[in-house]
Amino acid sequence: MIGVVSLALGLGLGIGLTRACPAPKSSTSTRSPSSQAAVIQPTVGTTWDYPLGFSLTTANANKSTIFYPVDLENTSADTIGALKSAGHTIVCYFSAGSVEDYRQDASEFPASAIGNTLDGWPDEKWVDHRNAKVREIMAARIQSASDKGCVGVDPDNIDGYTNDSGFDLTEDDTVNYVQYLAETAHAAGLAYGLKNSGAIVDRVVDVAEWAINEQCAEYKECADWAPFVKAGKPVFHVEYTEDDDATSVSASKLAEACAADGQSGFSTIVKHMTLDNWIVYC
Ligand SMILES: *[C@@H]1O[C@H](CO)[C@@H](O)[C@H](O)[C@H]1NC(C)=O
Ligand SMILES: *[C@@H]1O[C@H](CO)[C@@H](O)[C@H](O)[C@H]1NC(C)=O
Ligand SMILES: *[C@@H]1O[C@H](CO)[C@@H](O)[C@H](O)[C@H]1NC(C)=O
Repeated sequence: MIGVVSLALGLGLGIGLTRACPAPKSSTSTRSPSSQAAVIQPTVGTTWDYPLGFSLTTANANKSTIFYPVDLENTSADTIGALKSAGHTIVCYFSAGSVEDYRQDASEFPASAIGNTLDGWPDEKWVDHRNAKVREIMAARIQSASDKGCVGVDPDNIDGYTNDSGFDLTEDDTVNYVQYLAETAHAAGLAYGLKNSGAIVDRVVDVAEWAINEQCAEYKECADWAPFVKAGKPVFHVEYTEDDDATSVSASKLAEACAADGQSGFSTIVKHMTLDNWIVYC
């Protein structure tokens, strides 16, 4: 009797196990850590504006504009919360490749990691993003973005290697830094977007949820960012007027901005370079 019972139990277990084994559970659980589950992925063609030169509020936001990067330090958690409640996707902008004299954490950058002044931006100097303290400061900014309620980050000025930064930065260093920023953001539950940096798109498109590009139509390099669209990720594209007081855009400028080679699927807008509250949509 005992022998028969244990044989039946054994068979039962065996059947249960063979049934459980091919179940998809184990393969999905290794795909992504739960900390990344909440990272957003905006779709190709998402509408946007780049309100870095004025204070965006629910009163002046456009109801049909979804994606808005806002200045991390200058935008309050209350404002970010209200904009999100109104249906907008709010991400936090900060400079990841330079130190701006007027930022609260400016004094934390080690002198040895501060390089040359950016052309046209006297309050801003390139930093050596290989430096561990610089990366710590950026991790703190990403945490602050999360604390304030942003759902992603827009770290600017990562392409110092193409400029006279004062450091011997290479393209490989920049790819490594992008991976660091993306991993840090994702671990905090935030999405990460690549800013400019067309030369490294193929190497980092997999770790970014979108790209933001300035002036690719003017410089005829929009095709560099097309791999994002191909991967199902939006390219937020802004062209600038020559005149910051312009109240209209010529038909030829608009045609150039909105239909340059390689920009099919881009979310394109035209703005003053001051990024004030003036915009022309394609
Ligand atoms: C943020 O605030 C600082 C200090 O008031 C100001 O200098 C800077 O222009 C502001 N930047 C943005 C993007 O609002
Ligand atoms: C809001 O944005 C849409 C494009 O997304 C545009 O057509 C519309 O004119 C904008 N509304 C205002 C009030 O600017
Ligand atoms: C970066 O270098 C280019 C030339 O390669 C120059 O036109 C541009 O002004 C520089 N940008 C900054 C922010 O220094």
